[in-house]
Order: sequence, then C-alpha cells, then structure tokens
Amino acid sequence: MKLADIIKDPDIYPRTQISHQTIENYAEALKAGARFPSILVQNISEDGKAKTIILDGFHRLEAYKKAGLDGLEVTHWRDEILDKAEWLEKLRIVSTQCNLAHGDRLRERDLEFQTLRIVAGRPINGLVGIIKEMADTFGVSEGYMSQLIGAEVNRRKASRDAVAYRLHLLGWTQEEIAEVTGFADRTGVSKMLKIFDGKLFQQEYTSGLTPEQIAQYHNLDQPLVWAILLGGKDDIDRFKLFGNENYGNTQPRMSDFWKFNQRDPRLGLATFPRNLYGQEVLNILYRYSKQGDLVVDPMAGGGVTIDACLVMNRRCRAYDIAPTKSERKDIKQHDAREELPPRAKGCDLIILDLPYYKKKDEQGFLNFMDEVLDVLELPEPPEHSPNCQWCGYISRLTERA
Ligand SMILES: C[S@@+](CC[C@H](N)C(=O)[O-])C[C@H]1O[C@@H](n2cnc3c(N)ncnc32)[C@H](O)[C@@H]1O
Repeated sequence: MKLADIIKDPDIYPRTQISHQTIENYAEALKAGARFPSILVQNISEDGKAKTIILDGFHRLEAYKKAGLDGLEVTHWRDEILDKAEWLEKLRIVSTQCNLAHGDRLRERDLEFQTLRIVAGRPINGLVGIIKEMADTFGVSEGYMSQLIGAEVNRRKASRDAVAYRLHLLGWTQEEIAEVTGFADRTGVSKMLKIFDGKLFQQEYTSGLTPEQIAQYHNLDQPLVWAILLGGKDDIDRFKLFGNENYGNTQPRMSDFWKFNQRDPRLGLATFPRNLYGQEVLNILYRYSKQGDLVVDPMAGGGVTIDACLVMNRRCRAYDIAPTKSERKDIKQHDAREELPPRAKGCDLIILDLPYYKKKDEQGFLNFMDEVLDVLELPEPPEHSPNCQWCGYISRLTERA
C-alpha cells in the first residue's frame, strides 16, 4: 500500500505533538542505510467511508516519506475493516500501548489525554474499577493512574450523584433513579443518598461562596444547590433568598396580573424555545400548592416547572412527547393525550404549558386541548377567565391553605 494513504486519526492516535527532530533523525539514518521495524495500521470505516489509520510508528512513516523511500513494512492489527465508533476505545488502547512500548516513549501528558478520553467515552456504570483497569492496561501503578484520571472519574460520579439526588428531592423512587442514572440497583442509590452531604454546601455558602460558584465548583445545577441551601425555609424566605431584583422575584406577586421584564435564566434550559418564565411558575406554586405537594407537568419542555419545584420544595413529575429535545433525565416520555402515568395520578397541581405555535390552526389546537383535558379529567375552567379558551389555563386542584 502507498505510505501516503495512511493517515493519523486524532481521535485515536495518542500523541498530541509530533517530534520533528525525531523524524529528521530517522530520515537521516534511513539515508545512511538504516531500516526500521514495521508500522502498525488498521482499516476502519467512519460514516460509510473506509480509511487506513496509523496505530503505531507515525515518526517512522513520516521519516520514510521524507527520505523518499517506500520500503517500509506495514502490519495490520486486524484483517477486517473495523467500525470506528464500535472499536474506538480498543483502538485507542492498542495505539497507546504500542506508543508506550518503544521509540520516542509517549509523554505523560499524552497518556493522561488518552486515558481521560477513555473515561469520557465510557457510560457511567463502566467507570467502576477503571483506575485499576487502566493502570494494568498501560503497565503503570494505580497511584499514578489515579493522579491522571482520578479527579475526572470522581467528577463524573459526582454529577451522576447530583442527578440522583435531584430526582430523590423530586420524589422519584430509588428503583426509578437507578434506572436513569447508571447506578447498578436501588441499594447503590440508597447508599449514595445516605452519604450525600448538603452541609458542605451550607458551609461554603456561609463562608461567602455564591450558589452559582458552589454549583460550578461541584459541577451541579443551580436549582439543586438552591434546593439544598433552602432546606427548612418557608415559601416567603425561599422567594427572598432565591429571588433576584433583576428578575423581579424577591417576593410573591400579590395581584393576579404578573409582568416580568426578563426570564430567570437559572430555571429551565435557557436555550429551550418557547419556555416559561420561571418566575411565573414560582408564583403559581406559591398560590396553588404547598411544600411537599406533588406537581405534574405533562408538557415539560425545557423543565422550568421542575426547577421551580426544586427551589420551592415541591415534588414533581414531568413528561413530554419528545423529552430528548431538552436532554434532561427528569422528564419522561409520555403523550399528554394518553392517560397520566400512575405516578402522576392523584397529584395536587397540574401545570400545562401548551405548544402554542399550533394555535395557528385554531380548531386543531382546540381539538388537541380537548384531548389533553379529557384524559386529565379536570374541572371546568375558572369562571373569571371565560375568554381565555384553554390557552394558559391552569387547573387549580388544591387551593393554597
Ligand atoms: C411550550 S413548550 C413547554 C415549555 C416548558 N413549559 C418550559 O418552560 O420549558 C410545549 C411542549 O409540549 C410538548 N408537547 C407537544 N405535544 C405534546 C403531547 N401530545 N404530549 C406531551 N408533550 C407534548 C412539546 O414537545 C414542547 O416541549
């Protein structure tokens, strides 16, 4: 095969920097009659295209090209063409092992880079025992491997724990939490919940860190940090502490006409199109529910309702016909035109935020709403809003005491 057809795939090859001096030295040696051992390559396919990538011997390959020679022996790691996505981790490992073994030995920074990519490519339940596994794979001590990847492994576990804790606060069962977060079973969740320590956040908060800084430092989301910091507070204190003058939500609105100048970006995915202002939901929760109540959002979109529930200490079950659009684990797939899932039944408050763009076809929209309301078995809309049709109608299932 032509040496020029062999490429270096940066997703796989472990060296981030190539030594031009080494290539120069090898090329000089070749011109003086030296010959080098074979290089290791592999045929892979990516997006339907086949290519030959180098796994080991990039300096040798470049030196042969520089010296204008083509007698370099090429060995294939596997005879068949391998699918890149499927074989990515294995190809990274083989390439790293070879590059550690001889020639210009792989630098510590490159080994760190490669092992971190392997950590990032694993699902969370593939991280159990990974430090020992990587240490054995690359022939280094566990202590050394822990220095390279320990912090990242812990960071990924911490964000998994945070997702689990968030779901726990929202009222999910331990079985359900295990299912979506990658814990092996409910026992793992239960153990984690026992050691999840909110006091640390309280200490950081009283020592002057802002909730935003705490969230950033621990790789958590802000509503979760707030939920922990606000533990034991009543609704008014929650408004006072969480509220922000810029978003006009430092206290609940007393009239039923609410106007906010800008949405509170801490609630819900800011990038989700057509999301609610979180301040609206805080006020709805204040008026129509109490702490510990179960709130259901059948069309949760970017999850504003869920985040507001965390801040206001309400449990929450959220659904959407297309939950992947928001990539949130706390929204389950469900069509609002079908019967509510069992865990949502008997809830205290339902918040409906409809796909309003469908209003362009008004009759279609009203039919859609009828279907949704039929399955919810709601009471009639309040008398004071006869003109609002179903749009923006919030069902008051329980009155605020
Ligand atoms: C206006 S958005 C909700 C935004 C959300 N309240 C927020 O603040 O992020 C309407 C949502 O309804 C969802 N949806 C549309 N038809 C649905 C259906 N039949 N069942 C459940 N969800 C539906 C859409 O996927 C969209 O996410």
